[in-house]
Amino acid sequence: MPINDCKILELPKISDVRGNLTFVEANRHVPFAIERVYYLYDVPGGSERGGHAHKELHQFIVAMAGSFDVVISDGRDERRFRLNRSYFGLYLCPMIWRQLDNFSSGAVCMVLASAKYDEADYYRDYDEYLSAVDRALS
Ligand code: TYD
Repeated sequence: MPINDCKILELPKISDVRGNLTFVEANRHVPFAIERVYYLYDVPGGSERGGHAHKELHQFIVAMAGSFDVVISDGRDERRFRLNRSYFGLYLCPMIWRQLDNFSSGAVCMVLASAKYDEADYYRDYDEYLSAVDRALS
């Protein structure tokens, strides 16, 4: 899947004197049906998370609090996105290698995912991932 499909998407933001409200609807604000939500929190400074790709999974990553970077690669090109607003998120299509770093203190990273957790959907070894990309392109 091309890295250009991975995009920052803006979510609705309803603001009034009581504060802000943002919502996400499956297949409307994100291009997949949401089957799972997980979140990273209490991340020690200097930590790196991720370091894997998914074969089939679609994901949408939101900084619910604080900030962090998401570095993505399709095995050819690399991009770095800084997430720091809870009404923006980064959509990741399948077969994208990702790493999360530069977590601020108090950062909360929420991930919406298109399927339940399945270790068989992961490439955790970069060389194995690259071989799969090469096979797909040849
Ligand atoms: P890991 O993939 O290392 O997290 P990250 O993507 O942040 O680097 O996952 C850490 C552990 O949590 C690993 O043993 C798998 C487990 N896990 C689940 O059981 N369910 C889930 O939905 C996720 C995302 C991870």
